[in-house]
Amino acid sequence: MKKKNIQDFLAMKKAQEKITVLTAYDASIAGLLHACDVDVLLVGDSLGNVVLGYDSTVPVTMEEMLHHASAVRRGAPGAFVVGDMPFGSYQSAPRDAILNATRFLKEAGCDAVKLEGGLEICDTVRAMVRAGISVMGHIGLTPQTAMQLGGYKVQGRDVESARRLLAEAKGLAEAGAFSMVLECVPSQLAEIITESVSVPTIGIGAGPHCDGQVLVINDLLGMFDKYTPSFVKVYTNLAPIMKESIARFNAEVRSGTYPDATHSFSTQTDLRTIVKDS
Ligand code: KIV
Repeated sequence: MKKKNIQDFLAMKKAQEKITVLTAYDASIAGLLHACDVDVLLVGDSLGNVVLGYDSTVPVTMEEMLHHASAVRRGAPGAFVVGDMPFGSYQSAPRDAILNATRFLKEAGCDAVKLEGGLEICDTVRAMVRAGISVMGHIGLTPQTAMQLGGYKVQGRDVESARRLLAEAKGLAEAGAFSMVLECVPSQLAEIITESVSVPTIGIGAGPHCDGQVLVINDLLGMFDKYTPSFVKVYTNLAPIMKESIARFNAEVRSGTYPDATHSFSTQTDLRTIVKDS
């Protein structure tokens, strides 16, 4: 399978072929997603919620992101991998953004980075692109700053905020972002934005008109039962299946039925002799 690139994603938008994006945080899931021909693997900072046990994405560090992004790269060497820049790694200055993004590319082998924000980060995006870094934007509900938005709420429901989001999307595209995530916005606004920018829009809770869709893999597989947003489609509910298997392991170990002879190693030599020898 040929490694996909930014030009492919632009061509897919033009050809109205949908782009699939899923999050990955480790090598085994990354290998699986790539084998299933998922177009983009996003090492999201949702890592904080679904893997590291934080209450939000805010505490996630650069070191944690690089650790998991490297694992994803090792598990899927031929995939297009995007590393999510954690809170505090790009807001202070374009120089910090470039230095931290460079770590994603050099140390973790990512192909691109994603960062949250609208007009306030356009200069940073422009500087990053000029420095040779491929940038995916992320507007609408931006979880790193959800508290400033009044919580995890749909964005752009009224004319004023919809107009602002359209301006942000245009600003990011003009700054050189190669694509952008639209999170939790009305379908009609996502459609308007998708028609108004030349780069692909990737929706999550943004309806069917985006150029592509992204989901958190743990949500799609039903492995994260703490909270499931209404826009998530749980394609399979693995949590009960996993719990049932774990309960059987517990029971079999406790009753002595696992491991049995078929799950143990034997030898022709009578090793009991070592007791007498020693
Ligand atoms: O962190 C993440 O997983 C994301 C996607 C949900 C877009 O930002």
